[in-house]
Amino acid sequence: MCTLLAIESSCDDTSASVLRKGKILSNIISGQIVHQNYGGVVPELASRAHQKNIVPVVQLALEQAGIKKEELDAIAFTRGPGLLGSLLVGVSFSKSFALALNIPLIEVDHLQAHIVAHFIDAPKPNMPFLCLLVSGGHTLIAKVTSETTYEIVGRTIDDAAGEAFDKAAKILDLPYPGGPLIDKYAKEGNIEKFTFPLPDIPDLDFSFSGLKTSFLYFIRDNLKNDRYFIKNNLADICASYQHALVKFLLQKLQKASNETGIKEIGIAGGVAANSYLREQLKNLAKENNLVLHIPKIEYCTDNAAMIAIAAYYKYKKRAFASQEVTPYAKAR
Ligand code: KG4
Ligand code: ZN
Repeated sequence: MCTLLAIESSCDDTSASVLRKGKILSNIISGQIVHQNYGGVVPELASRAHQKNIVPVVQLALEQAGIKKEELDAIAFTRGPGLLGSLLVGVSFSKSFALALNIPLIEVDHLQAHIVAHFIDAPKPNMPFLCLLVSGGHTLIAKVTSETTYEIVGRTIDDAAGEAFDKAAKILDLPYPGGPLIDKYAKEGNIEKFTFPLPDIPDLDFSFSGLKTSFLYFIRDNLKNDRYFIKNNLADICASYQHALVKFLLQKLQKASNETGIKEIGIAGGVAANSYLREQLKNLAKENNLVLHIPKIEYCTDNAAMIAIAAYYKYKKRAFASQEVTPYAKAR
């Protein structure tokens, strides 16, 4: 029997999850509203909020799972990439808890975990499959070869897709994180009202900085003529911009499938919660006879259940971490 507690604290969500025999029993996520007024995550405030939240979040995760701490076989945690101060809270907590319970530690890479979220619920993808990982800090296409290995076939050369959403939202004066709000307003808008040039980037790579700049100039120019331009056109602006972003993402995913001949595809990361992306992916899969895997929304945005499932596969291999382990900020 394998019972794990997993901790995720890489950015602005404190999360804990309990897994038993490969099944998620609880997944508690405590977000941090403290960043809303700053237009982005303030690292110093994030670390403090993790420090405050981590014990109650873990307690709740154990309680909801109906598991006593003495029943745990290992403690898993996100080692990186992420904000160093935030990661340190999760790593230090995990080390102390593992030491107190005299059980092993399992370190998990955050990006790997986003991808492995596909193995939480059935039907599980057949390998190899292509996974479009779109989060606030990363955008890449991975050829997933096993539950513990993947190969990157394309990646962003500048911003991440989540940043392209959040930065546009900031230009529109929407609070952070703006991605979900653009998604919400776009539902009432016309995707063809405005056009944004799609980036022309070779191979399977991405770039979002040009799109973001053209969005900034577009808003600035229109505000010169009409100071209520944003207010009067919010839904159409969001729908048209989101359409351009999603079209670009899907063009690359389709290209990756054509070039590799892999017919099974999935999405992961916070932006994978976007309703228009999810809908358009279904169309893409249907038109191209692709097998599509879309994890539940709660397993796309940052959560500890994905850390728990990634740790489960490492536990099976007895791949444990030492008490000397330190977090890393940048992707490896
Ligand atoms: O994976 P995630 O929760 O954290 C990171 O690892 O970065 O991703 C967060 C990103 C943010 O940029 C947020 O705006 C975006 O995911 N996001 C969305 C939606 N929900 C979250 N973007 C577009 N539409 C959504 N519904
Ligand atoms: Zn993430």
